[in-house]
Amino acid sequence: MDKKTFYITTPIYYPSGKAHIGHSYTTVAADTISRYKRMQGYDVFFLTGTDEHGQKIEQRAKEAGVTPKEFVDPIVEGFKDVWSKLNVKYDKFIRTTDDYHVAAVQKIFKKLYDKGDIYKSEYKGMYCTQCEAFWTETQLQDGNCPDCGRPCHPESEEAYFFKMSNYADRLLKLYEDNPQFIQPESRKNEMISFINQGLEDLCVSRTSVKWGVPVDFDEKHTVYVWFDALLNYITALGYTSDDDSLFKKFWPADVHFVGKEIVRFHTVIWPAVLMAAEIPLPERVYGHGWLLFGAAGEKMSKSKGNVVDPILLSDRYGSDAIRYFLMRDIPFGSDGNFTNEALCNRINSDLANDLGNLLSRTAAMAEKYFGGTLPEDRQPGEFDDALIDMAKALPGAVDSHICNLQFSTALAEIWKVISRANKYIDETMPWALAKDEANRARLATVLYNLAETLRIVAILVTPFLPESGPKIFEQIGAGEAVQTYDSIGWGNLPANATLKKGETLFPRIDLDKEIAELDSILAAQQAAVQQSAPAEEEKAAPISIDDFAKVELRVAKVLSCEPVKKSKKLLCLQLDDGSGTPRQVVSGIANYYKPEDLVGHSVVVVANLHPAKLCGVESNGMILAADNAEDDVKVIFVDGMTPGAKIR
Ligand code: MSP
Repeated sequence: MDKKTFYITTPIYYPSGKAHIGHSYTTVAADTISRYKRMQGYDVFFLTGTDEHGQKIEQRAKEAGVTPKEFVDPIVEGFKDVWSKLNVKYDKFIRTTDDYHVAAVQKIFKKLYDKGDIYKSEYKGMYCTQCEAFWTETQLQDGNCPDCGRPCHPESEEAYFFKMSNYADRLLKLYEDNPQFIQPESRKNEMISFINQGLEDLCVSRTSVKWGVPVDFDEKHTVYVWFDALLNYITALGYTSDDDSLFKKFWPADVHFVGKEIVRFHTVIWPAVLMAAEIPLPERVYGHGWLLFGAAGEKMSKSKGNVVDPILLSDRYGSDAIRYFLMRDIPFGSDGNFTNEALCNRINSDLANDLGNLLSRTAAMAEKYFGGTLPEDRQPGEFDDALIDMAKALPGAVDSHICNLQFSTALAEIWKVISRANKYIDETMPWALAKDEANRARLATVLYNLAETLRIVAILVTPFLPESGPKIFEQIGAGEAVQTYDSIGWGNLPANATLKKGETLFPRIDLDKEIAELDSILAAQQAAVQQSAPAEEEKAAPISIDDFAKVELRVAKVLSCEPVKKSKKLLCLQLDDGSGTPRQVVSGIANYYKPEDLVGHSVVVVANLHPAKLCGVESNGMILAADNAEDDVKVIFVDGMTPGAKIR
């Protein structure tokens, strides 16, 4: 019989900036379930990639003085490097600039045009460049994009339209007949009300954007980037190509993982396009939450300098620790906060203490009491069943949570068994049993039960922690035959297994030291951003004079200045801002100025910034400096002006 198939996709990422921990979140989740299904014997196809066309990339490339392709190439390589660092094993990486994709998009566009689902007309509307999305006046919020809050601008041009409006009823019926199609449930309700507000036809071509798939029968148009991007899920399988065997085998997708802000594209536009093209629909679309930064839960953004770099963290703690944190700390579907404290605590408590200690204690005791190899004599005793029953029930519980995409709950179940096993050690007290030769069989039974529990745990954690699983197998002496999912039933570890203490799975970290170091890395990152040109991430949207007036700029004289300990980049300045009380400001300019270069000079301070802590030192404002591409920084001096004078 043919193996069951499982096709899972991540969104294809915009290569407009480096891959960060937020992108890693979706991709690690997709990798985890892919590994899990492969282990269960499914024929899995896991697709990820990059979404390379569109106005935003075109603009960035222009700013960087290179072609769009030259701009994205190194960023795409960077994404691949992050995936390899995090042990993400995808089956295919699609780039929307790949020839086969471009050709397929053109064919599908033409097919829908020939059918009458795409027609030519005039577009008038509001466009958000950041989101590459058109909005109607009614959809705008205070005149701004409802997704990102940035201003939209009117666009009017000849364009092709997709007859979305024809599909409203079929979409509603789709959701009703297939309750699993949009998950979690709350996102489904949002989509139903979105459709009930009235679906308008979708503009699917642009004449103003050159960096896109050309409409081959009307070359002054390029295909709207979202229309192009969504099709990746079928073009990657060879749809419309000479060899569409993968498409035949894997489509429809079992699940598309997407962030909550792009659920609409995947559950309204995408199924409507598929319906028009008479292609079966995916099974389900799961809209997960966002990973927010810090205890306050800020959106990660390069311009705020709070983007967390997965490579840096993997280098410090290993990729399994990062994968574990992502899958354990944030319930899939909800938003969650990334904090250095939460990461370090998970590493110490769950990984080093609970799992790491269970393994090292078990292997060490087997070595100490039996020279590693367990004798085959058995003597069951009190507490055994409590542990064994839990371990036996574990695979079923984990399976149901993973199938419901509840990764965090699946891990919580596994950790309950790990805790139970640690408690079993305290209850059975192997060190006391070891004192009397008459307890040999009982002692061997206790250690076997621990090793067998660890084997089942190792099988189930390997999809989450692909580096640690094999290390556990090795230390408990579980050969290949008993590492498989098929062998997960209790009792398959050979009775005379040989255990061997090996390297520590997860070294404990010094919490205070680590957090101080991570905070200082972050502070330097933020200070660099504060001092860098705003155009680094994106061109700032136009603002009104009223917006500008919200920034309180004042002259301030530098009274004293000293380096911030723990940091190479920061200086701490005391300023006379005319208020009568000195104002303390921390600035990332230590590489460019010595304290004595600043004292006595007058600078411009942003006086109404929220206070922030940089490397543990409070900063009340920011001093202005110019920063050019050569990494040269010049503070703006306004010597001779009275402290407190307003700048406007
Ligand atoms: N290119 C489109 C997707 C097209 S799919 C046919 C896009 N790209 S994106 O790079 O902006 O975002 C890709 C995915 O990354 C989205 O699902 C988004 O939610 C996710 N994330 C980006 N930052 C994130 C966090 N901070 N947290 C969790 N996911 C985040 O949209």
